[in-house]
Amino acid sequence: MAFIEQEEINRIRSSASIVDVISSYVPLTQKGKNYFGVCPFHEDHSPSMSVSEEKQIYKCFSCGATGNVFTFVENFLNISFAEAVELIASKVGISVAVNFSKKKEIKFKEENEAMDLALKFYQNNLNTESGKKAIEYLKKRDLHENTIKDFSIGLAMDQNMLYKILSKKGYSDKLLESIGLVHQIGNEEHDLFQNRIMFPIHNLDGQVVGFTARCYLKEETPKYINTKETILFKKGNILFNYHRAFDSIRLLKEVIVVEGNMDAIRLYSVGIKNVVALMGTSITKEQMAIFKKLRSKVILMLDNDSAGENATLTVGNLLEENQIPFQIVRLSGEKDPDSYIIKNGKEAMEEVIKNAISFVDFKLNYFKKNKNLNDASDLAEYIKAVIDGLKNTNDIILKEVTLQKLSNDYNISYTVLKEQLGMTELEEKKRNEKRVEKKEERQSSYDKICRKILFYMMNDKEYVRLYQTKLGVFPTKEHRIIANEIVYYLEKNKTINLADFITYAENMNLKDEIMAIISNEKDLVLTEEEMLELLAIIRKKIKKEEINKLKALIKEEYDVNKKMALLEKITELKKENGD
Ligand code: UTP
Ligand code: MN
Repeated sequence: MAFIEQEEINRIRSSASIVDVISSYVPLTQKGKNYFGVCPFHEDHSPSMSVSEEKQIYKCFSCGATGNVFTFVENFLNISFAEAVELIASKVGISVAVNFSKKKEIKFKEENEAMDLALKFYQNNLNTESGKKAIEYLKKRDLHENTIKDFSIGLAMDQNMLYKILSKKGYSDKLLESIGLVHQIGNEEHDLFQNRIMFPIHNLDGQVVGFTARCYLKEETPKYINTKETILFKKGNILFNYHRAFDSIRLLKEVIVVEGNMDAIRLYSVGIKNVVALMGTSITKEQMAIFKKLRSKVILMLDNDSAGENATLTVGNLLEENQIPFQIVRLSGEKDPDSYIIKNGKEAMEEVIKNAISFVDFKLNYFKKNKNLNDASDLAEYIKAVIDGLKNTNDIILKEVTLQKLSNDYNISYTVLKEQLGMTELEEKKRNEKRVEKKEERQSSYDKICRKILFYMMNDKEYVRLYQTKLGVFPTKEHRIIANEIVYYLEKNKTINLADFITYAENMNLKDEIMAIISNEKDLVLTEEEMLELLAIIRKKIKKEEINKLKALIKEEYDVNKKMALLEKITELKKENGD
């Protein structure tokens, strides 16, 4: 982001009151200096989010969400950073430079243009003579003209036609390779996709970033060839159909999640528009973050085979861990949502979605697999698995109902079941406590001190100066990068405060680490003396590490003169360290 924009953005931010803005969405009550409310970024009922008028930031003690007025409206309203700036600007009566929001995405301009041209080219191919067979295939699969158009479906032919056309337009081999459209075989460039039906894949903003390409002349393996990871295509960050489904998801507060792109296309084209596809059965951390950010209920509807069933358990556990509300649909009869709709129609699909079941109900069924419930040890295993599956639910009614049901269905004493659940929950609690302890151990005391120093540097330029003169470097790479960014920010802006630095940090790779530092640090007053002490501790540690490195070198050194020089260096360092 250019400097001039940063300055303007900071002006807008400092003209707004974070308490006013947040309280227009979430009720806040004042307690002492700060305001408190129920955090909207995780499932909660108690007021764990604090908002500081003085610092102009918010922090949730429970889920760790933190940020400034921009990040709040971004995440709360699911809008882009540029939209957030525009919204806050309009609230405080500042008019922002026109086209501000359009400026952001020019990083890969040429690459995006080449992608768009490829898309047009593939689409046009459907109108050629060879396109006839492709159209025939699409018709056979019940994909009609409108759907073909809506999803920009196309056709890749052979003879490296795409490469020839895009080269003629001036795109370099390097560029075309970098976006995964062509690859080199020997010394020649070849189209990556040949004789396949082309389905474009868009990123969350709706730009074409890749393709999934299906064989159609005969069945082949692999059935689909996908764009590999490129500068534009980061599969983990993408949900197929997200940009089309977004408005509908927001409206309905519900998102249907399927495996296959074809499933998403089918649901969408019959008018069930709030659907996205994972493009397989696994889910990435980034995709999970997208669901969390949508703050909508997930309806998990994976394929009707054992891969889909197992994935339902895995993905379900992850959704539960991330406190994302969800329900499950298991189809019967047909192999996937696509064929289910072709066979039974839209209304039948809407009906099964309406009858989605809870995760616990899914598990009641799932754990029966491969078990003979007339066999005592199988039955015991089954009961334990179901009870184990209850340990992460906060819903006490659901727990109660499930225990009652197990008790009735299998004629087992309710008290015994309750006792078993109590034990499981206690174990889980202990395990969680251990996990927290381990995490704290890993975060050594040095690490904590570095984070503390960084936190106060983000708050106050005097502390940045102290860092520069008294320390100048951190032991770990991550902290070095963050410190360099802080120093750079201060040089550019002449001043620094937490709320503005958060805006700047939003575009950084280490954003998560920075937010974690902010959210973990208790915001107390730190005197200059205390800061100097912290800096001295780290300085000593760095010197000590240097000494250890030199000692290791001495051991391996046979040249007496060099040995002496190293020893001298060590003595010098020791003196500096005061020992
Ligand atoms: P499916 O085999 O369920 O795909 O795989 P589908 O959408 O139902 O395909 P059709 O109906 O046979 O045309 C689910 C997803 O897994 C990925 C694709 O993203 C697909 O949509 N996949 C599958 C591949 O990437 N490669 C493959 O060879 C198969
Ligand atoms: Mn499928």
